[in-house]
Amino acid sequence: MSADTQKRLAGEAAALRVESGMIVGLGTGSTAAWFVKALAARGLSGLRCVPTSEATAELARELGLPLSTLEDTPRIDLTVDGADEVGPGLALIKGGGAALLREKLVWEASSRCIVIADKAKVVPVLGKFALPIEVVAFGHKTTANRIADVLSDHEIAMPARVRTAERGLVRTDGGNLIYDASCQAIHNPIRLADDLKLITGVVEHGLFLDLADEAIIGTDDGVELLT
Ligand code: 5RP
Repeated sequence: MSADTQKRLAGEAAALRVESGMIVGLGTGSTAAWFVKALAARGLSGLRCVPTSEATAELARELGLPLSTLEDTPRIDLTVDGADEVGPGLALIKGGGAALLREKLVWEASSRCIVIADKAKVVPVLGKFALPIEVVAFGHKTTANRIADVLSDHEIAMPARVRTAERGLVRTDGGNLIYDASCQAIHNPIRLADDLKLITGVVEHGLFLDLADEAIIGTDDGVELLT
């Protein structure tokens, strides 16, 4: 079964957890898009949906899901979102789609968070997927040097690299930059998360620790639940 089919299965299973009248956080990325499509197909009444990116907002709008904002609905019942890695204790790396800041704000406002992913995302140790770090553009090279110092304290030799696309530097929906830190193995995610947050210029990082309540993993045989 392809990774995309596994993503679809996870997204469809998560959509069944939503009830009429809920305020729902909509994640970002290809797996979250399957959830958004499956949710729209259910035609539930009274939903209000808070998207975590402009891309997800556009998809939800096209599908006729009623949108809200974190300002208008600051408490969210359930958020469903993808991840780049799902590690032990449901510690996650997120931000492959450059939406980690809005995602984390929405996750933290949620009573319950479900992460959805294909089987390949489940790892024994976080860090093979480069850790995204959102940085303000002003002075970003200085901030990158400070990130390199923190990474080196964590025995991560490679400095983080600024994310680029065909049209130059990637900008987040908030106008910031993304640095990707190729860690290989993050042995102490809690300490790394704390150390990165202390750097002026770092807006947020893609370590989502103690935020997911449950994972729905798409596999060749259907879905697996991790708690
Ligand atoms: C976006 C994210 C995504 O959820 C993550 O990158 C997974 O994406 P996909 O479902 O396309 O594999 O964190 O910032």
